[in-house]
Amino acid sequence: MSNRTFTMIKPDATSKGYTGAILDQIVKAGFSIKAMKWIRLSEEQAGQFYDIHRERPFYGELVSFMSSGPIVAAILEKENAVADFRKLIGATNPAQAEEGTIRKNFAASIGENAVHGSDSDENAVIEGDFFFSKLERF
Ligand code: TYD
Repeated sequence: MSNRTFTMIKPDATSKGYTGAILDQIVKAGFSIKAMKWIRLSEEQAGQFYDIHRERPFYGELVSFMSSGPIVAAILEKENAVADFRKLIGATNPAQAEEGTIRKNFAASIGENAVHGSDSDENAVIEGDFFFSKLERF
């Protein structure tokens, strides 16, 4: 089991000024930041990142939302990182997210749900590699 995961603070949250509060909650939950950048994805880049969802009905909206403004991308480290981070962010739909989770605290809807968290160790590596070169992480 790997001790790293990958996250993005999504455009809804950066535009509402929640970046600092979300990072604070992540760090207070015991994650350390191993790489981080503030970046805006093109539609093409967002489409590539979410290629796995290409056939889903929400793909077009997801790609246009994820390229609509800046995001914060980061690699996080903690024991049991992937599962613990998924727990910290809560259910995809904030209406179903547990009290105290990041999505419950900061997300408005299933489509605009404030944060991403990798769903497996394998995807954490793929997603981290999508954003960061070896020079940009430690
Ligand atoms: P998914 O990987 O199922 O959720 P999670 O981010 O919790 O791992 O979906 C990826 C993103 O796609 C999700 O964060 C928001 C968007 N999405 C929708 O807009 N509508 C939907 O019905 C679903 C399932 C996801």
